[in-house]
Amino acid sequence: MILTKNTGNGTAAISTREVMQRAQSGGWAVGGYNMHNPETTQALLKAAEKTQSPIFMQIGRAIIPHMGLKAAFEMTKRITDESDAPFIIHLDHGSEEEVIEAINLGFKSIMFDGAHYPFEENIKVTREIVKRCHDNDVYVEAELGRIPDVGQKVNWKDFYTDVHEAERYANETGIDSLAISCGIVHGVIPDIAPEPLAIEVVRNIRKVVSIPLVMHGASGVPDHEISEVIAAGVSKINADTDLRFAFRKGIEEVWAKGDAQLEVAMSLGREYMVSATAQKMELFGSAGKATVFEKFSIDSSRKW
Ligand code: 13P
Repeated sequence: MILTKNTGNGTAAISTREVMQRAQSGGWAVGGYNMHNPETTQALLKAAEKTQSPIFMQIGRAIIPHMGLKAAFEMTKRITDESDAPFIIHLDHGSEEEVIEAINLGFKSIMFDGAHYPFEENIKVTREIVKRCHDNDVYVEAELGRIPDVGQKVNWKDFYTDVHEAERYANETGIDSLAISCGIVHGVIPDIAPEPLAIEVVRNIRKVVSIPLVMHGASGVPDHEISEVIAAGVSKINADTDLRFAFRKGIEEVWAKGDAQLEVAMSLGREYMVSATAQKMELFGSAGKATVFEKFSIDSSRKW
């Protein structure tokens, strides 16, 4: 039994280091999914239970301005406490200030985003963040390369993670995992196929960087490309927009029939988001991997 129970984050909290090592050595990827309110938090956990998958519950760029890091953390902790899914509460795209607040709140896993710094400055700032995190037993993901927002016109060569910089960044900062840019974007334009991913960028970075690799922005990426990036060496994949679209579809379907209580609309949204998240878990290969951490029985008596 390798589950690290009761680490302060809830009943089935697991270690990021362990899940990332297992994903890397097993050739699958664990998903990082962003929650936005209690219902989306429940949907993510329900999908993890349904598929028996470990899960990163990510507190990200949308929820922090909406309710603040502390309230988002407490909400997530409360709901994860009711779930049997092995989970990690993870700060997504944190600034220096947010990382420090997260450490003080009790996060054990964060992603630091220093992409706006020039490269040498990014190394310096990240190294300090890593020291502070490791002194507090906090796992650090950090990103190198740039990820455009959906619809932005870009010259991709300027956005891909540079292989030599990736090698230096990983070696000189001491980060635990590296998020890379290989043609992904944050967000999706419905019905428009995204540019194909540059799988060779992943392969080339994999050759010189030994820590686990992460890919953000998986929404809208065709399934075969997701399988290719995992085969090329990506061990964690973030997805948000596709799941939000599923939630939204449920709300819209209910309200298309006339007025209804918000709870009725959110209920169908939650149901659709469970299915959409479960599909990602199957695709990423994390489905069935929860049993590695804990033999758990699913409690179906809950309302959600
Ligand atoms: P998408 O919304 O494109 O799936 O990206 C989510 C993400 O990468 C969060 O860090």
